[in-house]
This record gives sequence, C-alpha cells and structure tokens, in this order.
Amino acid sequence: MNWDTVCAGLSAIECAGPSVEINGVEYDSRRVGRGDVFVAMHGEATDGNRFIEIAIAQGASAVVTDSREVYARMRREHTAVGAALVERGRRSLSEVSSAVLGYPERNLALSAVTGTNGKTTTAFLLEAMLRSVGRTCVLIGTIETHVADEVRVSLHTTPEISDTLRVFADAVKVGATEAVMEMSSHALEQERVWALPVDVAMFTNLTQDHLDYHGTMEQYFAAKARLFEGVGAPPPRVAVVNGDDAYGRLLIREVRCSQMMTYGMAAASGEYRAEEVTLCAGETRFVFKTPHGDCAVRSPLTGRVNVYNLLAASCAALARGLTLKQVVAGAAAGAQVPGRFEVVPSSSDVTVLVDYAHTDDALRNLISLARELVKQRDGRVITLFGCGGDRDKTKRPRMGLAAGEGSDLVVLTSDNPRSEEPMMIIEEALVGVRETGTTCIVEEDRAGAIEIAIRAARPGDIVLIAGKGHEKVQILKDGSVPFDDVAVAAGVLKEIA
Ligand SMILES: Nc1ncnc2c1ncn2[C@@H]1O[C@H](COP(=O)(O)OP(=O)(O)OP(=O)(O)O)[C@@H](O)[C@H]1O
Ligand SMILES: [Mg+2]
Repeated sequence: MNWDTVCAGLSAIECAGPSVEINGVEYDSRRVGRGDVFVAMHGEATDGNRFIEIAIAQGASAVVTDSREVYARMRREHTAVGAALVERGRRSLSEVSSAVLGYPERNLALSAVTGTNGKTTTAFLLEAMLRSVGRTCVLIGTIETHVADEVRVSLHTTPEISDTLRVFADAVKVGATEAVMEMSSHALEQERVWALPVDVAMFTNLTQDHLDYHGTMEQYFAAKARLFEGVGAPPPRVAVVNGDDAYGRLLIREVRCSQMMTYGMAAASGEYRAEEVTLCAGETRFVFKTPHGDCAVRSPLTGRVNVYNLLAASCAALARGLTLKQVVAGAAAGAQVPGRFEVVPSSSDVTVLVDYAHTDDALRNLISLARELVKQRDGRVITLFGCGGDRDKTKRPRMGLAAGEGSDLVVLTSDNPRSEEPMMIIEEALVGVRETGTTCIVEEDRAGAIEIAIRAARPGDIVLIAGKGHEKVQILKDGSVPFDDVAVAAGVLKEIA
C-alpha cells in the first residue's frame, strides 16, 4: 500500500508528499518502525505532535497531524515524508488503520456492550454462546482478549482503534466472523471506537462510577448513549437494553435502532424476561420468557446480577441468529469469568469468594448475593475491601457504607493506593463503615488483611474478598508489586485446613 491510497481513504483537510510505501500505523512514537504512518493524537496527558521528529527519526514514512503549524513545518523540512493535515487525530487513526489493515471490521459482525457493571461478564457469556454453535470469535475486554482459541492479556477495557483493528485483522486471518467488545464510556466519549460498525449494541445499567471523569450522571449517560447513535458509523441494527434500569428506560425512549430488545425481571421491564428465578452457589436457574416462546435456562454462574448478564447475552445471541434452544445450551456451558464471583477452591467449610466489585453498587450486589447464600446455612458475611488511590474520592465513604450495611464483619484494607497514603484512603472509607455500627478491622497490608478475614470465619460463613478480582498486582507509590487475591486466599485456606 502507498501513501496515495491511504490519503484517498482519509478525510483530510490537505494531503501531500511523495507516494511512499506504507507498512503500518502507530500513534505511539516509541512503537514507530520503518514505513509506518505516525498519527499524532491529543491524549489525556500528552500531545502526539510533540513526538513527530522522533517518529520520523525512527523511520515513519508519513505523518498525520491536526496542527497547521506542524503540517507547514513538515512541508518545509521533511519533503520526503508524506504529510496530512486533519481535523481530529483519533478519527484519522481509525481511517488510516482500516485502510492499512485491509478493513478487517467489514468482515466481522460486531456486538458491543456498555454500562457501569456487567460488561465483561456479558461479553464473555455472549462469546461462549456464539462459540457453542461453532462460530469463530474475537473478544476484546477488560481482562482478556480472545482471538479464536488464543488468549491474550488486555491492557485496557477498550484499546485505541489501531490496536483494536490489529486484533480484528489477526482474527479475520484465522476465520473469525463474530466480534464481541466491551465499550467503556471513556472510549465512547474519546471516540476510541470511531467508525466501527456495530451490529448489536447492549446496555447493562448505569450507576454512579467514573464521575471523576464524566462530571455528572447526565454527561456519563450521554457518553454511554453514543454507542446507540453510532460513533462515526451508522446506528447499530439491534439495541438490547435493560428495562429494569432507570437510565435503560431513558435510552429505550431515545434510541432509533431498527430493532429494540428490552429485557429485565420486573413484569413491565420488557419482552425478554427472567421469571421463576432460583439462585444457589454455583447455579442459577430461570424461565426465559420471550415473544418466540419460553424455555428453562440453567447456568453455572452465581447471583442475581448474572441473571441480567445472561438476559443481555441471550438477547444479543438471538439477534445474531441463534435459536432459543442454542442460547439455552450456550448458557449452560457458560464459563467462569476470572475474578467475578470466583470461589477459591478449598476443602474447608468456609466459602471464600473473590470478586472485582469496586463500586458501592457492585459491593451491595455482591453482599446481598452472599447474604442470600448464607441464609440457608445460618452463616455470616465477612467483607474485605479497599478503595483505589488517585480515583473518585466521593465513592470511598459510600463504599464503606455499602460494606458496613450488609456485612457482619468488615475488614478494611488497601486496593491500589497508587500515589496516595494508604491510611488516608482507609480513613475516608472508614467514615462510611462507622455510620453503620458494624465491627471493622483495619489492616493496611492486603495479604495480612485476607488472613485476618479468613481466620475470623466460622463454618458456614462466606468471606468476600472484593475489589481486585482477576488483577495480578497491587499498585503502590513506587510501582507495582505482584499480588493475587485468589492465590493469597488459597494459601491461607491451605494453612488452616
Ligand atoms: N448486571 C450487573 N449489574 C450489577 N452489577 C453487576 C452486574 N454484573 C456484574 N456486576 C458486578 O460488577 C462487577 C464487575 O462486573 P464486570 O466485570 O462484568 O463488569 P464491567 O462492566 O466489565 O466492569 P469494569 O468497567 O470494571 O470492567 C462484578 O464483580 C459484580 O460484582
Ligand atoms: Mg469490564
């Protein structure tokens, strides 16, 4: 591919330079290699325009910029390098990447999920359903990226578009026809998914989280709603929306997709409903009521929130052409998402659960679910949690309140304190716990805290280790140290057995 061809697919104000050969595309100057197009973007912290000279020194064949000054300098000083002046760097990154990679997105039917909670679980469930009927899939989300059978570690919930398209291109090469993606509100607002054609869009729920970034709930909702308008692409064909959620109902009124599928548990919540719900540890059953008939669903996932995730994924799978029978079979096979209500294996009669819940809403859901499970065996709920540093501080007392309200004992500890003083974060969360009057043990060291929580448990109790889920590190002031809740808990359980 040459620079002329790339320019032809680029909505640029001006394009110039020799028709040099183009091999790839990069937005990070450190990764630029010979023959790449370097796209300068405004990130959260830096401006790519500052790194243009470095990119050229590393062999960039062409540069795309949104700065008239930089473009003029390119035309004066680097005449052997292609140059394009554009309105917005991120949108151009999408156009250039698609062209250079051969438009992989056109060969994939994309299902995308947004919402505060449940994105990862819903994406995993949908992927499992699509795979169960033999379709080859690519999945991009928080924990892992799947390219057919290959599992890669994810660095972001929703990567930059060039990274997404590279994964898509790899997937198309191995025969993928379906893509499932989590789209965070950050990514939608920053247009990191520009021009991706979404076939099925899912909305799980909206609760107070990430307000440090979005400011108000209205702005946060507007960011999520962009998925249903189409971000640089036509609106999705099918919208799958939670009718039990207040913002979901708002969306149902606003959205103009050609097909709308509404789901929920309340009688008035939509056409696709879960009724006669039975919740046990390691099993969830319900009757799936649909306009095409009813059927019994059984899933190995635990908890009421997963009924919602199963409903969203089932609707999307139907929209992707699976039959009701295939959806039920796929749900039964549904795999455990790492760190999402994950039971730590042990022979002890204390149940230890690791979960990624790191908002007050998720904590509440987690605790009420544990509450439902211990009721049958007269046990207590012991909750361990912490709050992240350098993130929304207003949620700390709210998380403390949520933990204290539902638990018999709280163990308050650290969860990625980052640049902040761990004990200062703990003090802020403690304010909420104190309001509830629930006994609270403070232990700054997370490993020590896990040991305290498990040793405090009696047979029949459930110990919830909340916040980190699948994460494998603790982020401290001077860097990351390896840390794994499941491994630490397993070690303690082995010791006391
Ligand atoms: N449908 C749901 N409604 C409310 N809470 C949920 C739901 N599904 C999962 N949760 C809770 O939220 C936590 C996060 O779940 P999950 O990873 O699936 O969501 P996510 O939207 O991908 O989150 P993140 O934005 O942090 O990646 C779970 O551990 C669980 O406690
Ligand atoms: Mg996620």
